[in-house]
Amino acid sequence: MHWKALALSLALAAQDAHAAPANGLMARQFAQAAMMRFQCSQLVFDRIDPLVQPGIAPSTHMHQIVGGNSFNVTMESIKYDPATKATCTTCDYAEDFSNYWTANLYFKARNGTFKRVPQMVNLGLSGKEGVTVYYIPPYDGKSKVTAFPKGFRMLVGDAGLRSKEGQQKQLCHRCFSNKKQDPFGGAPCTGDDTYDLPKKMCGGGIRTTITFPTCWNGKDLDSPNHKEHVTYPTSGSFESGGPCPASHPVKLPQLMYEVMWDTTGFNDKNLWPTDGSQPFVYSMGDGSGYGQHGDYLFGWKDGVLQKALDARCSGNNCKTIKTQSSSVSTACSKGQAVKEPVDGWLAELPGGTTVTYS
Ligand SMILES: *[C@@H]1O[C@H](CO)[C@@H](O)[C@H](O)[C@H]1NC(C)=O
Ligand SMILES: *[C@@H]1O[C@H](CO)[C@@H](O)[C@H](O)[C@H]1NC(C)=O
Repeated sequence: MHWKALALSLALAAQDAHAAPANGLMARQFAQAAMMRFQCSQLVFDRIDPLVQPGIAPSTHMHQIVGGNSFNVTMESIKYDPATKATCTTCDYAEDFSNYWTANLYFKARNGTFKRVPQMVNLGLSGKEGVTVYYIPPYDGKSKVTAFPKGFRMLVGDAGLRSKEGQQKQLCHRCFSNKKQDPFGGAPCTGDDTYDLPKKMCGGGIRTTITFPTCWNGKDLDSPNHKEHVTYPTSGSFESGGPCPASHPVKLPQLMYEVMWDTTGFNDKNLWPTDGSQPFVYSMGDGSGYGQHGDYLFGWKDGVLQKALDARCSGNNCKTIKTQSSSVSTACSKGQAVKEPVDGWLAELPGGTTVTYS
């Protein structure tokens, strides 16, 4: 399916999900929904986290990181500007040196060893593993949003969570029955999507969706828990055009990650746990899936993201800003700061983290 059809069904499903009036005008506006949707291929798998554990190597758990190659153990806001420090990026948009990172997923075998679950590139995109990044402007097709400023960073989700209670909005999993992702289904976190990891075998792999808050307090580039400077609309949702609260009046684009886990190589019931549970665990030792989280460290070249949002850039190829081919973006990489094996059977999760399920 062409990505525009995907975007359309996503927008329409968002409309359903939030019970927006289904009048003709609104449907037409949704149909024109423009959203930047692009590939950022794998930069490195590394046990560092410059947002939550700056200066600490190794940090507590393994991440998969995409974006600019200036990613490092310490990246002080403003002072360490990826747009000037990085020399390349793994993203389709050549002037996006931001870093996007998430936990990664492992298969836990019956004998207690672990193997990293590879990632697939999303429909309509090309590259190598990584993350599909979305910057979504308001669905009305015209209102303006403010691009993240230089030095901005944020975190959504909580690596320590093992139950639904306390979870932020719109972090979920979709279990695809086949590799064509057919039927595509509705917006993230609707239909059969689950907040925890799917309990059954998924013939087309598992998609993780991580959606960030869209209202900013307009002054802090970060906050002690990396969350309080941003929040959600007071009523409705970003999708339905809900207003931002007075404490966080600045409307941001909706940043969303999709990670496509290719679990299909492990779809053999002789390999799955005999007690009927599912065998996948996140790198922080999370066997539930509730602990999935996403980190964002802004690093676009000055003014480029605002220009792209104002021009209502769509997909991964917008004439207003510079793009690069996947042969160029996948050539961008960096070495691990914490050198340790990523692939093959591992006797324990990186860092020796114990797996917990609740
Ligand atoms: C990361 O930081 C270390 C220590 O400050 C430095 O030696 C190294 O060159 C940096 N790596 C990158 C890719 O900037
Ligand atoms: C553990 O199980 C996996 C999957 O069945 C197998 O490939 C691997 O060789 C086993 N490792 C050991 C040390 O037995």
